[in-house]
Amino acid sequence: MEKAFYKSLIDNNRTWVKKRLEQDPNYFKNLAKGQRPPVLWIGCADSRVPANELIGAQPGEVFVHRNIANMVIHTDMNMLSVLDYAVNALKVKHIIVCGHYGCGGIKAAMGNQHIGVIDNWIRHIKDTYRFHHKELDAITDQQKRFDRFVEINVKEQVYDLAKTSIVQSAWKNNQELYIHGWVYDIGTGLVDDLGINFNNNDDLDDVYQLHFGE
Ligand code: CO
Repeated sequence: MEKAFYKSLIDNNRTWVKKRLEQDPNYFKNLAKGQRPPVLWIGCADSRVPANELIGAQPGEVFVHRNIANMVIHTDMNMLSVLDYAVNALKVKHIIVCGHYGCGGIKAAMGNQHIGVIDNWIRHIKDTYRFHHKELDAITDQQKRFDRFVEINVKEQVYDLAKTSIVQSAWKNNQELYIHGWVYDIGTGLVDDLGINFNNNDDLDDVYQLHFGE
């Protein structure tokens, strides 16, 4: 059974290639020439939130970084490297941080259960809770508090993106770069733009605003 499932993955790949080539015999030849995606997606690793699929994007259209609870942690070399390459080499115009309702990472951050090494990753999310605990603690309905925490976490990650030297440097150089926060609803398939769209560092607390050059 398991073996059959595993084999189906390779079979599915062959079918996919065949379909693509039927539509365009040069499809893969053209893709192999290079990429110029206009979007960087920072999303959750959750298997139910497939970046390309839910926005109808084709291969070559979205540069993707995913981790547990779509976190932007400024000491994470993986995230920073993806961000640097996306902004400075690929010159993406939009960065979307997409969280989702029902996120296991957020749920874990609301609880106290020790899970393992992941506790240390989850701790970043707990820090977000601490910043907003007044608002969150005031929500008595557990589900509503969970949903709001998902939204607040996205917002915080968008701010953390804006605080990076990479993003601020791009803005300083008048590079066209917009950052957005979205929430995806697994139960409906719909995304919601949380309306926290940045394209300069003016909205950051003064202490985070970097000054470049001269
Ligand atoms: Co998640």
